[in-house]
Amino acid sequence: MTYRILVAYASKYGATAEIARKIGQVLTEAGLKVNILPAEKVTDLSPFDAVVLGSAVYQGHWRQEAVTFLEDYKTLLAKIPVWVFSSGPTGSGDPVELSRGWHFPSEQQSMVNRIHARDVALFNGVLDTSKLNFAERNVVKEFSAPVGDFRDWHAIISWAVSIVASLRPEVGE
Ligand SMILES: Cc1cc2nc3c(=O)[nH]c(=O)nc-3n(C[C@H](O)[C@H](O)[C@H](O)COP(=O)(O)O)c2cc1C
Repeated sequence: MTYRILVAYASKYGATAEIARKIGQVLTEAGLKVNILPAEKVTDLSPFDAVVLGSAVYQGHWRQEAVTFLEDYKTLLAKIPVWVFSSGPTGSGDPVELSRGWHFPSEQQSMVNRIHARDVALFNGVLDTSKLNFAERNVVKEFSAPVGDFRDWHAIISWAVSIVASLRPEVGE
């Protein structure tokens, strides 16, 4: 049987979508069958043996599409390996330090515990003010958030490689 993994993501301006695609690429290169989809486009989880779910963080919250995905599929997700990531803090360096210890939205913590996520990662994000609406620009200004692309591709690839290693016994290679 072919082992199939879903990489689902919730992204407003594309940074998280690109992280999801990079994770998908690493998994594909390792010989897994991978589907990469926006979380809201997923209608059936039954073809998948494992799931990676990621969301951008806005004002301390996951995007609603990712929250809805977790709610809709919680029963199935509890039965298969799941990895979770957030894309948020801008600036260089350890994303958890940049977020002053914030690691994951507290509203989703009990759900992630319940489905026994194998790992929960936080990655640095992107802030491109030319894409933001007026209200978002004000938020960014208020918090003096660093502007630019701070994604750490080495950290993202390493995390994806750790997923491959963790799945090896299940995939049977
Ligand atoms: C209005 C606004 C609020 C944000 N709030 C947070 C936040 O609370 N925590 C965080 O880590 N990042 C925050 N960010 C940064 C985004 O999460 C980051 O830009 C992310 O990479 C965007 O992903 P996307 O392009 O996939 O939407 C915020 C960005 C904007 C524009």
